[in-house]
Amino acid sequence: LPTSLYVHVPFCVVKCGYCDFNSYEVDDAAVLDVYLTGLARELDLVSVPQRPTTVFIGGGTPSFFDPARLERFFALLRRHVDLDHVDEVTMEVNPESLTSAKARLARAAGVNRVSMGAQSFAPRWLAFLDRAHSAEQTRSAVATVRDAGFVNLSLDLMFGLPGQATAEWLADLEAALQLGTEHLSCYNLTFESGTRLEHARRRGEVQPNPAEIDREMFTLTRSRLADEGFTAYEISNFARAGKHCRHNDHYWLQGDYVGIGPGAASHRAGVRSTNLKPLDAWSSSLQRGLPPVAEAETLTARQRYAEALWLGLRRSDGIDLDTVGARLGTREAPRFASVLDELAAAGWIARDGTRVALTGEGLLFADSVGARLLCA
Ligand SMILES: C[S@@+](CC[C@H](N)C(=O)[O-])C[C@H]1O[C@@H](n2cnc3c(N)ncnc32)[C@H](O)[C@@H]1O
Ligand code: SF4
Repeated sequence: LPTSLYVHVPFCVVKCGYCDFNSYEVDDAAVLDVYLTGLARELDLVSVPQRPTTVFIGGGTPSFFDPARLERFFALLRRHVDLDHVDEVTMEVNPESLTSAKARLARAAGVNRVSMGAQSFAPRWLAFLDRAHSAEQTRSAVATVRDAGFVNLSLDLMFGLPGQATAEWLADLEAALQLGTEHLSCYNLTFESGTRLEHARRRGEVQPNPAEIDREMFTLTRSRLADEGFTAYEISNFARAGKHCRHNDHYWLQGDYVGIGPGAASHRAGVRSTNLKPLDAWSSSLQRGLPPVAEAETLTARQRYAEALWLGLRRSDGIDLDTVGARLGTREAPRFASVLDELAAAGWIARDGTRVALTGEGLLFADSVGARLLCA
């Protein structure tokens, strides 16, 4: 089966207050060597496809490595994976740590798509988000990416920050467009449990933006980006023609993937597993020659069906029920047919033959649609 590869690099210059990804600050370079040794072992132990459908090197901050270690990272990966023959190899980078040497090295190693965390261009909001870079550093990092020969760039932005005015968000969007990016991910800030941001909310120090403002920002984002020729191919993702992220599409269409690195998730033939999250636990398991897996579960047909609908509905083309049935069997279909009827009656989804998609209204309440499907 077509299988994608995800490689998790869990290091960051600063741990942002809103972020619940498996990433941490490191002040001792020896930790990076523990990681690289672990990665070499995991690549030897786990069966990683030699020619994955797509590769995504994410984090954390893969550009955190110094050039020598980044080179070692790619050498390890290339021993097992034929990066030169994978259509899409994405690497996440942050403006504060990307240098020309690292960008060139990544390009030479087979990376052909860069996803950069810009988040905002306003000093006030960069500070609010604890970002370790300025807007100027983002602009210069984009130039660095282009100089290294990348023609496929994505920028991550966040909106709906507490107290952010719609005009401020639209100014961020313009600043990103001016950089000539091929792809944009625009995420509505969420308050994830366990983060510093969520603790601040509980103490009453910050208040989420009113939902109507978030929805207004979302709607304006879609129309502004449509004017610029971007397709909103998923709720938070926008691409110029042919520049959608194939790795994400593979995931949303429930393709198989192998994840390596601390906390990385894999999904193969209906079995989902997650690696141990702490670097030490992950690394010592590998040292003992054991797969560094924290948990594995075989998904039930109902779970897979619910997930197929939920992930599929996030895509603007929606999802074809016959295709899902052909892949997962039709035993679960009746249960979901009644939920889909309910969602259609609420005006949140629309049907066209066997295809189902969110309506304009449904897009604004996508999380509620997801919750309804996952509880079916
Ligand atoms: C885990 S980060 C990795 C990329 C990179 N380290 C960075 O900082 O940009 C992936 C993206 O998820 C988004 N993100 C992380 N936490 C979020 C949150 N609580 N709400 C909305 N978006 C979030 C950010 O836009 C971020 O760029
Ligand atoms: S958003 Fe990016 S830089 Fe910030 S803590 Fe998360 S992974 Fe690290």
